[in-house]
Amino acid sequence: MYLDQAASSFPKPPEVVEAMTKALTEYAANPGRSGHKMSVKANEVISQAREQLAHFFGFKYPNRVCFTSNATSALNQALKGFPFQSGDHVLTTSYEHNSVRRPLEDIKRKRGIEITYFDSGTSEDFDIAAFEESITPQTKMIVVSHGSNLTGKIVPIKKIGKLAKDKGVPFLVDAAQTAGVLPIDVEEMNIDLLVFPGHKGLLGPQGTGVLMVGKEVSLEPIFHGGTGSRSESIEQPEVYPEYLESGTLNTPGIAGLLAGLEVVKKLGLDEIHRHEQRLTKKLIEGLHSIDYLKVYGPHSDRLGVVPFTIEGIDSQEIAIILDQHYDIAVRAGLHCTPIGHESIGTCGAVRISVGPYNTEEEIDQVILALQEIVEGYFG
Ligand code: ALA
Repeated sequence: MYLDQAASSFPKPPEVVEAMTKALTEYAANPGRSGHKMSVKANEVISQAREQLAHFFGFKYPNRVCFTSNATSALNQALKGFPFQSGDHVLTTSYEHNSVRRPLEDIKRKRGIEITYFDSGTSEDFDIAAFEESITPQTKMIVVSHGSNLTGKIVPIKKIGKLAKDKGVPFLVDAAQTAGVLPIDVEEMNIDLLVFPGHKGLLGPQGTGVLMVGKEVSLEPIFHGGTGSRSESIEQPEVYPEYLESGTLNTPGIAGLLAGLEVVKKLGLDEIHRHEQRLTKKLIEGLHSIDYLKVYGPHSDRLGVVPFTIEGIDSQEIAIILDQHYDIAVRAGLHCTPIGHESIGTCGAVRISVGPYNTEEEIDQVILALQEIVEGYFG
């Protein structure tokens, strides 16, 4: 039983497997490099993926949809490629993943920026007025994870986008946990930089990530190399998407991501989120009924991501028992967000996360398993 959807979605829809198999067996030549039919076909599928993704996320510029190998590389490109200078300030939150925190801290060390990790608390509320007060004249970017990979807390990116626009500050959204789960409209939400992986809510394969770069933002590439265009020049061509896409793209992966996106569209974002909320509600109710167990995160409006601890038992131990004894896959530990754990007052937790293919029966089973574990420990 797979309840680790926040780490990577599973199973992948058959449509994704078929699209990737087709790419690998029929046309996965080097896209955009050679002029032959297979290369053209590979390039066509990639262009179609750019267009479909741009359309789905309300982004007007398909050629500024840049493919990366995962959300982390997209975030590194967005942050390290931004022209930060000493004294600049970045406003972010205390729920960020290390894929935001580590690049920012690296930039701080090397370029002398200041960072504020705004703590929005543990309830579902997000104090937008207090967040606004953290913006200074030196703030050069607002970086926000749309949904916490630890608590499932959803951040009001539309309000923050409006604030960022009013203040003239570029706005970067890390949609690692929400792309394919919650509606995101780049234009309407005033997002300048949008990042997401292909392998979570969009149901695509690992090894795919996306960075959408709005027209108002200029980035320096962090990678340089072959782009298949302007090969005579020693400079990186300043044309999107090649500008940020050195090296051969992951054609089978992008074909799979395109197929995953189609499945998400067929299922419908509303239905996906409703299903995850139903399972989450049931899960939280069940967890609350277990002695010695404490659940964290918002009470109602949240993603299908639920962390908990059991008094006196190490989170890794619980995850191992669930895996080895019950065949239930969850993730324990720090979830690459030590600052998120600080915010909720834990130094490790077990995280159950659900997706569109999980069922109510699975929730019943994991609750029963945890009841047994607790009885086994405490009698
Ligand atoms: N960011 C992923 C997680 O939360 C890997 O597990």
